[in-house]
Amino acid sequence: MDKDIDRVISPIAKTGEDSFDLSLRPKTLAEYIGQEKIKANLEITIQAAKKREETIEHVLLYGAPGLGKTTLAHVIANEIGANIRVTSGPAIEKAGDLAAILTNLAPNDILFIDEIHRLNKTIEEVLYPAMEDYALDIIIGKGPSARTLRLDLPHFTIIGATTMASLLSSPLRDRFGLVHHLNFYEVDEIQKIIRRSAKILSVVIDETSSLMIAQRSRRTPRIANRLLKRVRDYCEVKSDGLVNPQVCLEALEMLEVDELGLDAIDRKIMETIISKFKGGPVGLNTLAASTGEEMDTIENIYEPYLMQLGFLDRSPRGRVVTDLGYKHLGLKPSGPEKLI
Ligand code: ADE
Repeated sequence: MDKDIDRVISPIAKTGEDSFDLSLRPKTLAEYIGQEKIKANLEITIQAAKKREETIEHVLLYGAPGLGKTTLAHVIANEIGANIRVTSGPAIEKAGDLAAILTNLAPNDILFIDEIHRLNKTIEEVLYPAMEDYALDIIIGKGPSARTLRLDLPHFTIIGATTMASLLSSPLRDRFGLVHHLNFYEVDEIQKIIRRSAKILSVVIDETSSLMIAQRSRRTPRIANRLLKRVRDYCEVKSDGLVNPQVCLEALEMLEVDELGLDAIDRKIMETIISKFKGGPVGLNTLAASTGEEMDTIENIYEPYLMQLGFLDRSPRGRVVTDLGYKHLGLKPSGPEKLI
């Protein structure tokens, strides 16, 4: 997905971006905008655990990239008043790496494991007794004389994050007492996030402009914050630094993000299906070859949003552009002739 990283509307964090965004991250549940059901549930979980002076159960957060899984993990830690250790599935290469992390945890600590679906099998197995019994089973010696030694661990909480819960093996998934699915945000929630971020960044922005950015943010906070920063830069260079609808639109047009948040590559994918394959169906393999994009990127990054907008369908015989998709491009469903 390397190429996707370059897009202004990529939901994947760019290098260094998340640390820069630290200032924009809400610290408490009250500051966190959207995901109302999850917040209500977490509020109860946290208060109950505090009352009983216990750690909270292990939490699994799943949802598309950029929706705030990491942010929410930090909010939970902050609300509990616990330390958070951050790692990720691919960063833990050996069982010993995980054992080192676990034995260094203090009581009540939170261990955040991003991309937890990418942990390998042997490491997962170290995690089972740790999650279930707060214990680490160490095998000493080899062959018939091998023994297991059980080390007690402090009571801690794992917060795992993944893009899809189905990517996790079921024994791992079953060990999370709390499972929360982060949905895409409503446009008005994204607009609130933009207003909040603008305030933190000391950007003056009007209602129309914040709505304009919100509508183009693919209902994803990370994209909204990124677009806000690009628009701010443009307004500082081309105008007086205040974000008004005219300069805001110019900035967004320069970034080639249309009124629904589609960029040139989204449009290329739809246009290729229409012009080369009569609107589909066309297989993912063929589509990737004829657009020059990677299969994985098309499937996991471009298609979910196009499907959510109802512009693309995945049929058993391949990808199809819908009537709505044609209409968005100003084309007639029967062929590539222009509507107007
Ligand atoms: N910044 C990124 N995500 C946010 C959210 N959900 N609420 C407030 N600010 C945010």
